[in-house]
Amino acid sequence: MINLGVLVSGKGTNLQSILDAIDAGHLDARVAVVVSNNPEALALERAKSRNIPVEILPNTACPSREEYDRKIAGILKGHRVDLIILAGFMKIITAELINAFPMQIMNIHPALLPAFPGLNVQKKALEYGARFSGATVHFIDEGIDTGPIIIQAVVPVHGEDTVETLSSRILAEEHLIYPEAIQLFSEQRLTVEGRKVIIKDHQKPDGVMENPSVRLTGKE
Ligand code: GRF
Repeated sequence: MINLGVLVSGKGTNLQSILDAIDAGHLDARVAVVVSNNPEALALERAKSRNIPVEILPNTACPSREEYDRKIAGILKGHRVDLIILAGFMKIITAELINAFPMQIMNIHPALLPAFPGLNVQKKALEYGARFSGATVHFIDEGIDTGPIIIQAVVPVHGEDTVETLSSRILAEEHLIYPEAIQLFSEQRLTVEGRKVIIKDHQKPDGVMENPSVRLTGKE
């Protein structure tokens, strides 16, 4: 069982999907602490309702981003965190945190990287006229949304889509692939070779739109 430190800023639906996967016995992990830079984040209520320790560290709490990340690293080490989960954490992290947890930080991004890194990417995919978009779980490196890719899920973009409809189609996939990626980490099946994440005993995907196919939290 691994200890997760989940960093949030907003609604926390990805945090919820992780907690649900743990409850369902699909994910062998425990959320040791939830850290938010936003005191108003709904994600904090989700954590508190389950007696998960929360830490609130507003962006203004530290004079520099490096100082902020040193503090976060200290909090996470204090809770014996094995893997940091960025779940809608709206803040760029620095080498201070990355070096303290090498290849132990995951992020979820609501697009098929390397297409559409950065912010407001559902809108960008729509405006670009992309026929497909999706979600990407990746390890963090020092770039913005550039780290090694663990799992991706594809969704179609429909002609009548709005930012809201596309976002919710992507979010449903996020909720499947994030717990799956964490479970692969927990089973020590992920190794990183250069840009590539090698998955031990990886089964060939069976025609599904997630790659690798989601085993434990899949759609029934
Ligand atoms: C998700 O779309 C995630 O991909 C992005 O921010 C959103 C967070 O949603 N990084 P939530 O707070 O987990 O509901």
